[in-house]
Amino acid sequence: MLQTFNEANRDLLVNINGDLVHRDQAGISPFDSAVQGGDAVWEGLRLYNGKIFTLDEHLERLRRSARALAFTQIPTRDEIVAEIKKTLAANSMTDGVHIRLTLTRGVKVTSGMDPRLNQSGPTLIVLAEHKRPVYDDAQGGEGLSLITSSVRRFPPDCMDPNIHHNNLIQSIMAKVEANAAGADDALMLDQRGFVAETNATHVFIVSEHPAHAGKPEMVVQTPRTVACPEGITRQCVLDLCADNSIPCVERDISLTHVYNAAECFTTGTMGELSWVGRVDGRPIGDAAPAMGPVTQRLRGLFRELTDRAGVQVV
Ligand SMILES: Cc1ncc(COP(=O)(O)O)c(C=O)c1O
Repeated sequence: MLQTFNEANRDLLVNINGDLVHRDQAGISPFDSAVQGGDAVWEGLRLYNGKIFTLDEHLERLRRSARALAFTQIPTRDEIVAEIKKTLAANSMTDGVHIRLTLTRGVKVTSGMDPRLNQSGPTLIVLAEHKRPVYDDAQGGEGLSLITSSVRRFPPDCMDPNIHHNNLIQSIMAKVEANAAGADDALMLDQRGFVAETNATHVFIVSEHPAHAGKPEMVVQTPRTVACPEGITRQCVLDLCADNSIPCVERDISLTHVYNAAECFTTGTMGELSWVGRVDGRPIGDAAPAMGPVTQRLRGLFRELTDRAGVQVV
């Protein structure tokens, strides 16, 4: 799965601290904290028919992440929403748009990691692109293929996964392994060897649970947020399960559980719900690779939700 250049994005205007600049001219200072140390937080948002889905949940996570990193100035919700609206209007965007929102600690007076060198406030970047859900091409065919990465996801005592920061090297290392193996993405384990998430998305399986009890039933299962962020799409799926009487649990999941699952899918703002056809060369489910019924149902419910919910910004 390799994203390609979308001609519709050739003349994008990018918003940097309120200034709208053509994508080819847009830039930030070499003294900016994002360049100096990846010292920034970010969110991915999606625009559906003029509305941003779960906008406030994303802005709250951005604020929590920035507070955890001890940013001294954080723009208010309304200030950020105003910049998003300005960017979408300047690019005449209404639908099928992904917005990458980045808040850096700002420009430093000299290079270095010390936050006291930041004396002029944060940098807010709003990058809006025309972008379909990124895994769509694999959804009509064989589903996504995953391999297990040798790179482990940090627990909170190393780097709290609930800080949604810009140090993506761990994920990029895992993605490099997936690329080398010809897979779409990499499954990442936590330090105990249980599934954490992929390099970019949360993971769900559907299988009989409990495996050894008298009356197992098909249950949607996802790892606890021990070594992955509290995902917003993940939470939507948990809520959809609860609202529609679909059995669902959060628990430790090992690779053996994944290999033996009837269905597997990933979740994230960038790719929504995407079914997985193969993990480490093993086909998921008994049938020929096909999207399973529970995944199909949840995708339908999620589509209904994105159609009706969201904050109008256009
Ligand atoms: C590491 C990681 N996992 C999973 C996700 C998906 O989370 P969400 O559903 O909130 O987009 C993201 C999204 O930014 C992420 O960075």
